Amino acid sequence: MPSIIAHNMSDTAAGTTGRTLDYAAPLYDWLAPIMVFGFEQRCARHVIEHLDLSPSHRVLDVGCGTGSLTRRLGQSLDASAGGGIVGVDAAERMLDIARSKSPAGLPCRFVAGLAESLPYSDCTFDRAVSTFFFHHVEFNLKTKALSEMWRTLIPGSKAIVVDVDVPTTLLGSCSAWAGYRLFRQEEIRENIEGRLREAFDASPFQSWRSVSHHSGYMTLFELIR
Ligand SMILES: C[S@@+](CC[C@H](N)C(=O)[O-])C[C@H]1O[C@@H](n2cnc3c(N)ncnc32)[C@H](O)[C@@H]1O
Repeated sequence: MPSIIAHNMSDTAAGTTGRTLDYAAPLYDWLAPIMVFGFEQRCARHVIEHLDLSPSHRVLDVGCGTGSLTRRLGQSLDASAGGGIVGVDAAERMLDIARSKSPAGLPCRFVAGLAESLPYSDCTFDRAVSTFFFHHVEFNLKTKALSEMWRTLIPGSKAIVVDVDVPTTLLGSCSAWAGYRLFRQEEIRENIEGRLREAFDASPFQSWRSVSHHSGYMTLFELIR
């Protein structure tokens, strides 16, 4: 691991083999839209459409990063009705930015933690969401994180996952493999080769389906607890 990355790693991030982003925190909100070709806003709209939120829902955002989606979902929730959202990430610098951007009164909290051992008891949440997190962890952690999402959701509820997936177009394939080569990230290759889907199959979720494909290499999945 390059020493600059190790040096900037927060204590929570040091506890995982996932690719955590403390070192990228100041730049993340500038770079993320470029890396997904501006899909971020549309992604948020699709997630909201498929989450079926009600104001009283308790929601978990796994690998929330700087919390753009977390805050957006928080706008649909009402603390006085018991609703709220928790964004969990291992990179404490990312969470510092998430907190600094979260307006007072929005029912959002940001908590340092690991997706593979979530700091919540069984059946805590009505909904879970995770966007662009699963290509940051290798297969073993993909399955552990899914088990943790399942454990902390109430029976009959659902999770929405958006991530790099098996490409559906030639352009999508070029984009996905270019991302893999740029970042030299085996976890991206796993997703391109269908291993995120294998992790869904291996997870305790009752069922899962791919809902929609985007830019030829990203998929929105729905998982039923
Ligand atoms: C590409 S970012 C996605 C952030 C946000 N969900 C979004 O859509 O912009 C992936 C995030 O996963 C976090 N991460 C990596 N491994 C993790 C782990 N084991 N537990 C929790 N978060 C982790 C990173 O720190 C990073 O913030």
